[in-house]
Amino acid sequence: MTACDHPGALLATGATALVYELDDRRVLRRYKDADLSAVPVATSTEIAWAAGVPTPRVLSAHGPDLVLERVDGPTMLAEMTAGQLAMDEAMQILARLHRRTHQVTAMPQEQELPRLPGGDRLLHLDLHPNNVLMAPDGPQLIDWENASWGPPGLDVAVTAVILACYALAYRTEDDALDATDLLDAFLPIAEPLTHLPEAVAFRRGRVDFMPAAEAAQLDNAAGLVRYLADRAPQ
Ligand SMILES: Nc1ncnc2c1ncn2[C@@H]1O[C@H](COP(=O)(O)OP(=O)(O)O)[C@@H](O)[C@H]1O
Ligand SMILES: [Mg+2]
Repeated sequence: MTACDHPGALLATGATALVYELDDRRVLRRYKDADLSAVPVATSTEIAWAAGVPTPRVLSAHGPDLVLERVDGPTMLAEMTAGQLAMDEAMQILARLHRRTHQVTAMPQEQELPRLPGGDRLLHLDLHPNNVLMAPDGPQLIDWENASWGPPGLDVAVTAVILACYALAYRTEDDALDATDLLDAFLPIAEPLTHLPEAVAFRRGRVDFMPAAEAAQLDNAAGLVRYLADRAPQ
């Protein structure tokens, strides 16, 4: 019997996984779908960690279970909605995490992650405020589920579409997350957004893993991102 047979308190429910406390230094990230393997997400997390991207260390992967170092801190989204993190500062952190991730280059024969056309950089492809944990020694990027090798502009465009979908879906509930303000803060400081149509297609392929309210905003979000990106040439 292992610690994973009797995990502690449920810490968080994500789109694909439940995250439990194991002890004060480790968490268990368990896929809701028990048939999924945690090995691919463990591999991409290990690649990022080994390259020095701030992310929790993988301790083990078995079946749907991934054991990770525990990060002590709230999500960036929680800090933003609680009014503890200014939007400009949050968007600077997101842009920095993109740049740090995109410094990592694939080795020529590397087969471990999918390869997308147009580039050979490490892409996260789900880099948004709920996948950043605000640890005391700096932000940590989690949830490397979609990681691939490809062009940085695709990663930036995916983040822009996610931010816009989220903000448009919940605009009546949270004034702190205005879509135009978020994109105006993010786009000028991020790397150029070169692959918006591909980013929209990528998100369309993930609608089963997002709340219906966000999925319903995909076309509006794409239009808003295009409009704002064109208005402020990079
Ligand atoms: N290493 C960790 N330490 C502490 N909390 C974590 C850790 N990994 C994930 N979490 C929490 O669990 C949530 C869901 O994890 P995540 O890997 O993003 O799964 P999903 O794919 O379901 O979004 C995160 O938003 C965070 O609150
Ligand atoms: Mg997540």
